[in-house]
Amino acid sequence: MAWELKGRTALVTGAGKRIGRQISLALALEGVNVIVHHSNSGAEAAEVVDAVASMGVKSWLVKADFDRNEYEGFIERVAGETGGVDMLVNNASIFPQSRLGGMTFEGLVSNIRVNAWAPFVLARDLSRVMKKGRVVNLIDSRIKGYDWNHVEYILSKHLLAELTRMMAIEYAPDVVVNGVNPGLILPPPGKEMDYLEKLDATVPRKRHGDPVDIAEAVLYLLKSDFLIGEVINVDGGRHLLEYGRGPDTDRGA
Ligand SMILES: NC(=O)c1ccc[n+]([C@@H]2O[C@H](COP(=O)([O-])OP(=O)(O)OC[C@H]3O[C@@H](n4cnc5c(N)ncnc54)[C@H](OP(=O)(O)O)[C@@H]3O)[C@@H](O)[C@H]2O)c1
Repeated sequence: MAWELKGRTALVTGAGKRIGRQISLALALEGVNVIVHHSNSGAEAAEVVDAVASMGVKSWLVKADFDRNEYEGFIERVAGETGGVDMLVNNASIFPQSRLGGMTFEGLVSNIRVNAWAPFVLARDLSRVMKKGRVVNLIDSRIKGYDWNHVEYILSKHLLAELTRMMAIEYAPDVVVNGVNPGLILPPPGKEMDYLEKLDATVPRKRHGDPVDIAEAVLYLLKSDFLIGEVINVDGGRHLLEYGRGPDTDRGA
């Protein structure tokens, strides 16, 4: 049985570019009003707002830096400005390199703050302010293996995966929480596509994915009326194989 998306309102974090942008456009195509969140990418996010609005739904631009604790009170403010938030897609994330030997507490806290704590606070406040709703957390299929080069990031995503499970249990049935584990989809900001293409052979599907693949999984979870606490690996099967055989074999895009 499908949950009707049309006419509802979704907040997508980190929606100015890349995967968040694609999720916003896919939601708009389904008749969903989209609240486009950004931190530094104000101009790109404004373009997403225009693209969403051109599809005949409402759109708003909202700004918050989650590394500066601007997740506090964010849902209440946004719900007040837009008339309410029915769905939350926790997409915003940082992806800095770090090796275990060089890991710092400050670096770990910074990753946790943006990648796990902010998504948790937004989902928690959605449940408090709206009482009902749907949440999809963007995690990472790397948590199924090991990534030598992003240890602080990967720890933060493990925490988000566990928080997804906890919130799914505690907030059901009124707030439904699920997740998506993307695999190789886009090269990290600043890297070219050949960076990903070199890793295509490590994927059972023998190619990297596309933001459309992630957006489709997010929509599937939002529409389902019977999935709770589910995390879908959208990674061409990469989670099935051994990851991280060494620091130079998997630089993990
Ligand atoms: N790309 C992949 O192949 C891949 C693979 C596995 C998992 N994922 C996950 O899928 C999601 C989307 O991936 P992506 O590559 O599209 O993400 P991304 O481009 O690395 O980041 C998305 C957005 O997060 C926002 N963000 C970063 N720091 C922030 C902060 N302090 N406060 C508020 N927003 C902040 C940025 O917004 P502004 O630009 O406005 O500052 C950025 O545009 C992420 O959760 C990522 O971990 C992606």
